[in-house]
Amino acid sequence: MAEKNVVLGITGGIAVYKVPDLVSRLRKKGFNVDVIMTKSATEFVTPLTFREVSRNPVHTEMFANPVQWNVAHIALAKKADLIAIVPATANIIAKLATGIADDLLTATLLAARCPKLIAPAMNSGMYNNPACQRNLKQLADDGFVIVGPDSGHLLCGDEGVGRLASLDEIEINIQKLLSTQDFINETVLITAGGTREAIDPVRFIGNRSSGKMGHALAEAAFKRGAKVILISTSPDAPRYAGMEVYGVESTAQMRDQVLSLASRATIIIKAAAPADFRPASVAQGKIKKTSAGMDLSLVINPDILLELGRNKRSGQILIGFAAETDSLSKNARDKLERKNLDLIVGNRVADAMGTECNKVTVFSKTNAIDLLESPKPIVADQILDLVIKYRMDGTLSE
Ligand code: CTP
Repeated sequence: MAEKNVVLGITGGIAVYKVPDLVSRLRKKGFNVDVIMTKSATEFVTPLTFREVSRNPVHTEMFANPVQWNVAHIALAKKADLIAIVPATANIIAKLATGIADDLLTATLLAARCPKLIAPAMNSGMYNNPACQRNLKQLADDGFVIVGPDSGHLLCGDEGVGRLASLDEIEINIQKLLSTQDFINETVLITAGGTREAIDPVRFIGNRSSGKMGHALAEAAFKRGAKVILISTSPDAPRYAGMEVYGVESTAQMRDQVLSLASRATIIIKAAAPADFRPASVAQGKIKKTSAGMDLSLVINPDILLELGRNKRSGQILIGFAAETDSLSKNARDKLERKNLDLIVGNRVADAMGTECNKVTVFSKTNAIDLLESPKPIVADQILDLVIKYRMDGTLSE
């Protein structure tokens, strides 16, 4: 990704203490971050902290001596691909709603033409005040993307609405505003994680799949504009406003959930590792150990992808995964044919399961594209690039 410039406006609320972490996350994602702090924000955390995490000078003054000659607010407004205000106080919200430009941050915002995001954080009384609600509505009408606030325990001691949205939620919305919306017309159903098949109320049969690849695909599709339906076995599944997320445990539950939602999907990606077998019966009470050991009788589970392939509707793209220890290409191509798939993502078990990185080959009926070993979020974006190419040309070749 070419480096994008995020101008991060920080205003004076206690939630400022969370923002250095956001700057550091954005830098790790490859964004350049220029911080503007209001005077009140500097009372909570010093500019030095933000200088160090952003590795850029921090802007606090409208009339500071420039290092190079420029008009600070115009230069920052032109440079910004996105301006985010985190946290946004009731005061900045009121100023922006009326177009006041009495400091560097408000003047920059008024001059900027890029997308703008605000993450409000304040006491519930202030947030629910009709003046604040009126101002937020005005900002939404003016095109600002408003993220949060969440409800819960507030640092002032109250319970209620007004907590800064999670950094995950703010980060994905920043990424979304900076991403090409090439999945805007797609509804993508993704499954993730290994299923658990109960033996008794305590024990289960499972596998090593963590769900990370499926979750990375869900996040990538979401930021590229897709309507995302995620069905995951993992408690770590991402949960963003606007993403539909369903938790399941067994292959049977996953099958029921997938089949009830599949007709809405234009693309289905089955990244999950459903167990192929389940215990023939589930003991009601905990099975007591005996010195004689124990035999476990297993029966075969339904193959969800096979059923999806049989009932594929016209225009729906069906993508499977194949985790193999041997003969990757042959096994992946067999599954592509047998399950009536458009694409299959093949990987070796040792390269994929439970790891942060993945090395995959994407097969269509006529092509095989090797992707370089990379962190799963990058692999997810590259897989989606191939899916969009396949959607446009019906092939993966150049
Ligand atoms: N899959 C499925 N339902 C199952 C088993 C697998 O939908 N009961 C899907 C997986 O989500 C994956 C693809 O089928 O997208 C291939 O899974 P895999 O376990 O590699 O293949 P199997 O068909 O189970 O074959 P085998 O275990 O013999 O390799």
